[in-house]
Amino acid sequence: MLNIVILAAGMGKRMQSDLPKVLHTLAGKPMLDHVLDGARALSPGRIIVVVGHGADRVQAAYAGQEGLHFVLQQPQQGTGHAVQQAVPLLGQGDADDATLVLYGDVPLVQPETLRSLLQARGRGLAVLTEHLADPTGYGRIVRDAQGKVVRIVEHKDASPAERRIGEVNTGIVAAPTGLLKDWLSRISNDNAQGEYYLTDIIGLAVADGAPVSTAHPGAAWETLGVNSRLQQAELERIWQRELARRQLEAGVTLADPARFDQRGSLKCGRDVYIDVGCVFEGEVELADGVRVGPHCMLRDVRVGAGARIEAYSHLQQAEVGAQAQVGPYARLRPGARLEEQAHIGNFVEIKNSRIGKGSKANHLAYVGDADVGQRVNIGAGTITCNYDGVNKHRTVIEDDAFIGSDTQLVAPVTVRRGATLGAGTTLTREAPAGQLTLSRSPQTTIAGWKRPVKKS
Ligand code: UD1
Ligand code: CA
Repeated sequence: MLNIVILAAGMGKRMQSDLPKVLHTLAGKPMLDHVLDGARALSPGRIIVVVGHGADRVQAAYAGQEGLHFVLQQPQQGTGHAVQQAVPLLGQGDADDATLVLYGDVPLVQPETLRSLLQARGRGLAVLTEHLADPTGYGRIVRDAQGKVVRIVEHKDASPAERRIGEVNTGIVAAPTGLLKDWLSRISNDNAQGEYYLTDIIGLAVADGAPVSTAHPGAAWETLGVNSRLQQAELERIWQRELARRQLEAGVTLADPARFDQRGSLKCGRDVYIDVGCVFEGEVELADGVRVGPHCMLRDVRVGAGARIEAYSHLQQAEVGAQAQVGPYARLRPGARLEEQAHIGNFVEIKNSRIGKGSKANHLAYVGDADVGQRVNIGAGTITCNYDGVNKHRTVIEDDAFIGSDTQLVAPVTVRRGATLGAGTTLTREAPAGQLTLSRSPQTTIAGWKRPVKKS
C-alpha cells in the first residue's frame, strides 16, 4: 500500500495573508487541491495532510473527503518532525509498503514524475532532485566518488565546498514505510536551525545499507514552490503557459498563448479558435469549429459546433447551440439555453430561459424565466417582467412571434404562435395567435404649444 504524506503546516509568512498558504489558489483552485490531484492519480491507500498554521481552515475546506486524513503538527519543528506526526497513521505494512512525502506549497508535481520516483525507489529510498544554476537556500545532494548519494546537507549547515554543489533536494522523497518510521525515530535537531530535518533520513539509510536512488522531475517548474505572492503569480503564468501548450498541441488555435487563462477543465473539438484575454472556469466544452472572441468569460458552459461567442461576452452555467451567435457584450446567466442558430446580441441578458432555434434578441433586452420558441424576433428594449418582488413568473413566447421594440411582458403571460406585439406594448394578458396586439396611448399634438425660451 502507498501512503502519501503532504506537509502543509508551515506559516507561509511571506504571503502576508490571513489565509493559510495552501488555500491560496493556482488556476482557480487551492494549491492543496493540485497536490491532492497529483496524489490521487497514484491511487494511494491513504493520504495524510500535516496541518499546523490555520489548521482549522484547511481541515474545514476538505471536510468529509474520502481517504483523506489530517494530523496536527504543533509547534512546527521541521520537516522530519512534521512527518513524525503522521507515523501513527502509516500502518504496520509489509516490506513493499511505501510512503511518499509531498509539499502543500509545491502544487504542480506531475503524476508521471511521482511514478518515476516510485519506480526509481525499487525497495529502497528515492529522492527527487534537480540541478540548479543557483542552488542557494536548498538542501544539497552530497555524493561520494562513485556518484552514490551519501547524505543531504541543508544550505545553512553546508560547508563552502558543499554549497558549490548544484544538485538540490526538491524535498519530495519516497521510502519504505517500515524503515522510514525507524529512521524518523533516530533523527535529531542538532543543526543550524534546531529543527528535525526529514533530509537526515538519507544519511541514516546510507548508514543502514539501504539502497538510495534519485529521480528528476519531467520539467523544472514541477517542483517550484510558492512562498510569496510573487512566486504564486509566476507559477500561475508558468502553469497557464503549460495549459495553453496542451491546448495548442491538441489542435486549438490560441491567438496568444500568453493571454489565456484556464481555471478548470476546457474540452475543445477540432478547429476551435480562442482569441486573447478569455477566462475559462469550471467545466467548459467547446465543440468543433467554435470561435471565442477576445475577452470573454465562460464558466460551466457548453457551446455547440460552429457557434460564435463574440468579444466581451460573459457566460455562466449556460448552453449555446450549434451555429448560434452570442455577443459582443452579451450575458448568459445560469439556465440560459440557446438552441441552434439563435442570436443573442449586444447588451442582452438571458437568464433561466430557453431560446428556440433561429430566434433572435439582438439588442438591449432582458429575457428571464422565459420559454421562447423558434424563429421568434425579440426587439430592442424588450423586458420580461418576471419578478414581483417575491415570486418569479414565466413568460411563454411561441414560435414565429414578433415582439416589437420596448415591450414589457408582465409575467406570467403568453404570446401565442405567430403573434405580433406592437412597439411599446405592456403585455399583461395573453396575445392571441397570428394577430397584432398592442397597448399604446393615442398620440396627440398640442396645437399652438410654445417651447419655453431663456431670457438673456
Ligand atoms: C526543505 C528541505 C530542503 C529542500 C527544500 C526544497 C528539509 C530539512 N529541507 O527546506 O532540503 O531543498 O525543502 O524546497 O526538509 N513544513 C511543515 N512543518 C514544519 C516545517 C515545514 O509542515 O515544521 C512544511 C512547510 O509548510 C513546507 C515544507 O514543509 O510546505 C517545506 O518547509 P520549508 O521550511 O520551506 O523547508 P526548506 O527549509 O525550504
Ligand atoms: Ca524554508
